[in-house]
Amino acid sequence: MMPLLSPSFLFIFIFIIFPSSHSIPFILIHGIADQCSHLGVKKITQQLINFSGVEGYCIEVGNGYWDSWFMPLLDQAKVVCEKVKKMKELKEGYNIVGLSQGNLIGRGVVEFCEGGPPVKNFISLSGPHAGTASVPLCGSGTLCIIADNLIKEGVYSDYVQAHLAPSGYLKLPNAIPAYLDKCRFLPLLNNELPDKRNSTYKERFSSLQNLVLIMFEEDNVLIPKETSWFGYYPDGAFNPILQPQQTKLYTEDWIGLRTLDEAGRVKFISASGGHIGISDADMKKYVVPYLNDQTSTEHSTSKSGSRRMMQRVNRRELFRAT
Ligand SMILES: *[C@@H]1O[C@H](CO)[C@@H](O)[C@H](O)[C@H]1NC(C)=O
Ligand SMILES: *[C@@H]1O[C@H](CO)[C@@H](O)[C@H](O)[C@H]1NC(C)=O
Repeated sequence: MMPLLSPSFLFIFIFIIFPSSHSIPFILIHGIADQCSHLGVKKITQQLINFSGVEGYCIEVGNGYWDSWFMPLLDQAKVVCEKVKKMKELKEGYNIVGLSQGNLIGRGVVEFCEGGPPVKNFISLSGPHAGTASVPLCGSGTLCIIADNLIKEGVYSDYVQAHLAPSGYLKLPNAIPAYLDKCRFLPLLNNELPDKRNSTYKERFSSLQNLVLIMFEEDNVLIPKETSWFGYYPDGAFNPILQPQQTKLYTEDWIGLRTLDEAGRVKFISASGGHIGISDADMKKYVVPYLNDQTSTEHSTSKSGSRRMMQRVNRRELFRAT
């Protein structure tokens, strides 16, 4: 008979009571006009590390600030894809935290990155997932003057598409044919082109464990802010703002958003504050739990009843927000 405290028993016991001691790291991808060495990005990365107790890395694209403006997003996604493939820390899988434009790069990695390590949870702060109808606010610096002049060339011209990152997700509802024809990033990422839909992108995106979409109530950078939830304008008009569930991307399940939602894996969060202006409390409530390993086990035992309740709450919040 095996004594109660034999090494193998102890091993099993420890394994059972500490199932989450093995936590996967996260990467953070910053937004436009930012870089990993900027104070704000450094702070949020470090806070997420401190609050979650897991390792986290801010992944830089090129030289940061300048490239965030002027390197096309398809190339930015390729840079991050190559970086994550080389990071042995991520081999067992990792989570992505995206800030603003960084969310589209992150999704590019999830959907396009050939042979990359698996992405488990995707936490999006102010992501222009369904596009944005206005260039991100930027003020009067030199870069913005260059950007402004480029846009005057016509956002869907080949030249602008090749030289201005946000032109890859500027989706003007009154220019949808030009957008679908010329925009080089978002139509691919969202599987919007009927003759180019790629089921591999959908498979990869719908294999996420959790997709956390945080929209900020006073976000005036993203037009409309509901794009943070995949909500957007209908083709051809600036109103009404469609709920995510009313868009074709969702109903026809172009990238697996509906599949994920029906499996209870999409969290539609409405937080107070401006563009990516998350409070410490909301960070702990909405982001940190997904960086700890526990969420993967929570997910597998989550009940459809609570999911339906969440969705009811979410729909109500969306109505209130629009
Ligand atoms: C993170 O924790 C370290 C060590 O406790 C502390 O020195 C640092 O100020 C914390 N950083 C942030 C941004 O919370
Ligand atoms: C879809 O994407 C995958 C991965 O990038 C690629 O290997 C495949 O050729 C694409 N399929 C089509 C039909 O374009």
